[in-house]
Amino acid sequence: MSDTSNLEDAAPGTRIVGAGRRQEWTGPVVNPPVWRASTHLYESTAALAEGPRHNEDGRFFYGRRGAPTQWALSEALTQIEPGAAGTVLYPSGVAAIAGVLLTVLRPGDVLLISDNAYDPSRAMGKGLLHDFGIEPRFFDPLDIPAYEAAFCERTRAVLLEAPGSLSMEVCDLPELARIARAKGAISVLDNTWASPLGFQALEKGIDITLMALTKHVGGHSDLMMGSASAGPELYARLRARAQQLGTVVSPDDAALALRGLRTLHLRLKQETDSALAIAQWLSQRAEVAQVLCPMLPGAPGHDLWKRDFTGGCGLFSFVFKGGDAAARNRFVDALGLFGIGFSWGGYESLALPIDPAAYRSCMAWPPEPASAPAPVSAGDRFGVRLAIGLEDPADLIADIEQALTAWSAP
Ligand SMILES: Cc1ncc(COP(=O)(O)O)c(C=O)c1O
Repeated sequence: MSDTSNLEDAAPGTRIVGAGRRQEWTGPVVNPPVWRASTHLYESTAALAEGPRHNEDGRFFYGRRGAPTQWALSEALTQIEPGAAGTVLYPSGVAAIAGVLLTVLRPGDVLLISDNAYDPSRAMGKGLLHDFGIEPRFFDPLDIPAYEAAFCERTRAVLLEAPGSLSMEVCDLPELARIARAKGAISVLDNTWASPLGFQALEKGIDITLMALTKHVGGHSDLMMGSASAGPELYARLRARAQQLGTVVSPDDAALALRGLRTLHLRLKQETDSALAIAQWLSQRAEVAQVLCPMLPGAPGHDLWKRDFTGGCGLFSFVFKGGDAAARNRFVDALGLFGIGFSWGGYESLALPIDPAAYRSCMAWPPEPASAPAPVSAGDRFGVRLAIGLEDPADLIADIEQALTAWSAP
């Protein structure tokens, strides 16, 4: 594997296997070694003086600019992101969101934030960005006229996420990005759920796409990292700001992320198939009012998912028919094969009690059902998010079935 320059036309699986594997970085082995380095040494004072004049990946300079392990990971992510000129790595997904927004916004700007964005993204708008003189405004991404009307001459960027955090509705991303561009604003998408395998963000008109690599790319629940990819002009700005902020990721974690990346397509396919089977099963249960899974026909946003996405993943939610928080928590506690935890995207299944109403400014919880007859009434609001891993879906269904008994009988 010495030439990864012609991967562009290859199928996603082929690209994932070959991406970032330059022979000058891997040498005679398959993976780039872990280059642990703060200091890069120079042959002479003349070479030292030359060092700072070249600021690009692939050149040794000083540890903060990384070394072949980190360069290989960012090049691999660029090669699987159609339309990207480069990818910046961050020490977590939240650090990627902060790094991107601190690149494109200035004091006095307005940032439009999708109301169903990941809560720490919302909190960043109200906290960090507000403290730096930026005004966050929340909008309903399903209400396009209201979104269009929310722009003003100070709107510099829009933060999008699809499907919505916890509530999982899919919005019309190409249209939201088109409107942002027409209004002179930069669109930023948190594409952690789909990854570039499931949604080719830059090709669909998004300006900057970011991911929490902590989730699907790491894939084994053992690292934290984030990334942001963009075309040439915005990539250069992201990279410059990341250098000013001192952003760096460890080579050990970069090597783990590269290892996870090589099986991303297989894991996502398996988790998507299992999640859909479990979502279909849940949708037939009397205890369940609504299943919020973009891949499930009739779920909120399914038609847009089918139109715009090329894949899914194992993360979806459902809402109980009636009951209360205690019954919902009994269900989660009774699960045997699911861990209880905030994360997702690992090989193991997880469950999380959810109350999205606490994190919304203008969107209703639960979402409007897409298909009639509407089964949802006011008491149907206690939700659970499931992250489906690589276990056999029949075993997961059996586990959910026995836990439903705990939900209905204290
Ligand atoms: C959609 C989404 N974006 C970003 C993040 C943040 O990633 P990290 O935990 O690596 O900071 C998360 C974490 O749960 C997430 O779900």
